[in-house]
Amino acid sequence: MKTNDELTVTIEGFSNLGYGIARDNGFVIFVENSCPQDVVKIKLTKVTKNYANADVTEIITPSPYRVKPFCAMQKVCGACQLQFIDYDYQLELKRQITEEAIHHIAGLDIEIPLTIASPQIKEYRHKVQYPVAETKVSKRLLAGYYKQKTHEIVNIKYCPIQPVICDEIIEFIRENAPKICVSGYNEKKHTGDLRHVVLRCSASTGKVLVTLVVNSTKVFENLKNFANIIYEQIPQVVGVCVNFNPQKTNVILGKKSECICGEDFVEENILDKTFKIGSNTFFQVNPKSAENIFRYVKDYIKNNLQDAVVLDAYAGVTSFGVCISDVCKQIVSVEENSESVRLGEKIAKENGITNIEFHSGDAAEFFKNETRKFDAVILDPPRKGCTKESLDEAFRLSKGLIIYVSCNPATLARDLKILTEKGCRVNSIQPFDMFCHTYHVENVAIISK
Ligand SMILES: C[S@@+](CC[C@H](N)C(=O)[O-])C[C@H]1O[C@@H](n2cnc3c(N)ncnc32)[C@H](O)[C@@H]1O
Repeated sequence: MKTNDELTVTIEGFSNLGYGIARDNGFVIFVENSCPQDVVKIKLTKVTKNYANADVTEIITPSPYRVKPFCAMQKVCGACQLQFIDYDYQLELKRQITEEAIHHIAGLDIEIPLTIASPQIKEYRHKVQYPVAETKVSKRLLAGYYKQKTHEIVNIKYCPIQPVICDEIIEFIRENAPKICVSGYNEKKHTGDLRHVVLRCSASTGKVLVTLVVNSTKVFENLKNFANIIYEQIPQVVGVCVNFNPQKTNVILGKKSECICGEDFVEENILDKTFKIGSNTFFQVNPKSAENIFRYVKDYIKNNLQDAVVLDAYAGVTSFGVCISDVCKQIVSVEENSESVRLGEKIAKENGITNIEFHSGDAAEFFKNETRKFDAVILDPPRKGCTKESLDEAFRLSKGLIIYVSCNPATLARDLKILTEKGCRVNSIQPFDMFCHTYHVENVAIISK
């Protein structure tokens, strides 16, 4: 079998990266843009000792789960890989992805329930990060997601998975930046001004915080004027910040930001609490689905613990801590991003919450020096999961309960293996759909010592 070979296959399974899985005499082929039960002609794009990758060249018999994507750009834009699959079946595939990881990586025989659907499957994404460039001759601004596996921008005018106001703000920026002489970034030459536009939109108020990420170390006159025009002319904009990113890097945000006008946060209401989201602080992109997760964890603690002292680790703005503060005696929060900690303190104060203790720093370091024991430890690490050291310490600090929230089934499974080898039992794992139409899935694992 070699690259460019063509064959006809039936898609039998689905991988954790969103590819259909076919087998040719037992040899595994990952097929892009395919769905279980498709019969397709494919062309191999890469062949290794253990597996091959392939593209679909013709759909011979479509899977019964195929639907017409609701976005005309779905095929070119890399954002919604699964939009051509029926939404209920997406939920089942995400359940299977979780189950596969838990069975094969963690070696645990746990039944995984169906993924809890997102309350909204369109206009659900409340964080938008568009790269910006400009056309060579006419110097028009381009803004949108990258075409799959390229750094070529798809100039997106309408994206149905984000609130319409976000499209309107992006269009305003596209139209007006060149008039004020704010240019688009040229990635190859590392020249030009505007690299990214980042929008944080509130699901509860419809207000938006705009961040202009620029290839500069300080605010220049045109940029300041442009920020003011955005703020003055779009009533939904609560503030415009500039983030400085003069490095030749793929990282979107630089370390330093400055608020040019209005506020440097947007407010979001979750359960009965008001949060603040900054340009560079973590907050779930799908607030309605996040609310389901916060409620799930709050209910579990309320129904199983009394006067609980809870450690909220990898806390962000202490979203879990704030949501569960009414049903706990005390929360201890630890987060490495100092801006998130600062906002968290503000959020607690403005919600009248007095039982949260905030710590800024690395979770594992904090755990090592902590001598108190906690009725529950909440772990919500980034995609790479926890370190072995932080799991050892979380195990030591927990009196009996660990709640592990994860956006990556593979690292969740790896970490559950470590915890179960130490003597923990995984009571349940519940998938939630936070990132509709992508292969990503969020899980909450309830673990007892
Ligand atoms: C997936 S987010 C979860 C945030 C929060 N629990 C929420 O739901 O909004 C992970 C958070 O962990 C933080 N983080 C990453 N590495 C860390 C570390 N080593 N120690 C402490 N916090 C860390 C990130 O800054 C981020 O805020």
